[in-house]
Amino acid sequence: MVDPIATEGSVTGDLDPDAELAAVLGTTGGRADPYPHYARIRARAPIFRSTIGSWIVSRFANCQQVLRSPHFGKGTDHDATARMRVARWGIPAEEAADFFEFFDRRQSMLTLNPPDHTRLRGLVSRAFTPSTVEALRPGVAALCDGLLGDMADLAGGDNNVDVMRELAFPLPVAVIGELLGVPVPDRPQFQALVRAATAILEPMSNIEELRRARTARIAMEEYFADLIAERRRQPAQDLLSELIAVSDGSDRLTEQEVMSTAILLFAAGFETTTNLIGNGLWALLCHPDQCRILRSSVHDPGALQRAIEELLRWDSPVQLDGRMALRDTVVAGQHISSGEQVMTLLGAANRDPIRFDHPDTLDLGRDEGAPMSFGSGIHYCLGAALARLEGQVCFGQLLTRFTVIELGDGGIAHRDSITLRGLSRFPLRLKTA
Ligand code: HEM
Repeated sequence: MVDPIATEGSVTGDLDPDAELAAVLGTTGGRADPYPHYARIRARAPIFRSTIGSWIVSRFANCQQVLRSPHFGKGTDHDATARMRVARWGIPAEEAADFFEFFDRRQSMLTLNPPDHTRLRGLVSRAFTPSTVEALRPGVAALCDGLLGDMADLAGGDNNVDVMRELAFPLPVAVIGELLGVPVPDRPQFQALVRAATAILEPMSNIEELRRARTARIAMEEYFADLIAERRRQPAQDLLSELIAVSDGSDRLTEQEVMSTAILLFAAGFETTTNLIGNGLWALLCHPDQCRILRSSVHDPGALQRAIEELLRWDSPVQLDGRMALRDTVVAGQHISSGEQVMTLLGAANRDPIRFDHPDTLDLGRDEGAPMSFGSGIHYCLGAALARLEGQVCFGQLLTRFTVIELGDGGIAHRDSITLRGLSRFPLRLKTA
């Protein structure tokens, strides 16, 4: 039977959009390939109210409207979210409230509205402008070259190499680690910590995952508290020292804000780019003709730029975003009341046929403007230029160094998450010229 709440909104035909969404959020098959589910939702229920407690929008123009409009902002209806979690997972109500209070005390630019968002973003945005980022290209290229050299050694004698472990994770960690000033030996521990902490972004996280998220967050705070103290004693040429100087100089950044900003930059700096590399390479392996074309134009910066945009569109590393209505408003002809949540399906928006020609075709030469993968509006990804640069360097070097890139034994496995979409396992067989 169709849930009456789920059918609120503009649903046509006999589609149960909530069942389609549940398949994406909660089944292995749906997470492995959410796109057929998105297509049905987008075509027949472009806006609907789901039993997970949010309105769901999936068309490009509607997602853009929600993310750009001042009628929407950051915020959570804690009561509604808690009710949903309590109902779904049996989480004790006091514990759910505790979680919200814990994370509310740890706001970053990602979770704040103006004017605090403007102030925090303004303090670090200089480090991420396209020209500042472009100056990092030689350093990123050198880091990538070193990792690919190690991969070539590992791949000798027909060995399998896991590209997630050897390249997709260490490259972005090294890049943001260098920028921020996180010492090399300290970096590997963050893969598990950040992965655990991001459970808070996943709509289906259960009580155990939420508890691990909190423990991981505390561990990261303890780490950064020590590093901040060290840099305060002895400043270095890094972004963390700059943040501390700002907070000490004009008192515009509190200790908690330095900490939250550092953790946000570090976590956002690799968790997503890792998945651009993994998802993008998997797309190339599934489309050998496109891969061949890219190989033949890999020294053309324009071709490489267009290819990265298309890989971002094709299988976005961030699939879900969202906002809260700050006042009564209308989206896609539907009244949304102040305080209600709206979830934007970025992966669905990127395959919207109203926005992209033949959206289910991977076309690395496509030149139809940016996808929705970095969001939109005032929270548009601060690291977009850096992520693009890392993608260009990484795919350029991979295709130049290795003449054969094939799927290895056992095949790929998708991670058990959907807000952050990526692979947990991706074995390759590689050959150099
Ligand atoms: C392919 C890689 C990446 C993807 C797909 C991605 C995606 C996104 C998205 C969708 C948002 C918007 C969130 C929202 O609307 O609430 C965002 C925000 C953000 N991203 Fe990225 N990101 C990537 C890489 C990076 C990198 C390398 C950094 C490095 C610093 C970074 C830092 C940030 C920050 C600080 C924000 C918050 C901006 C704000 O709230 O004003 N991201 N990212």
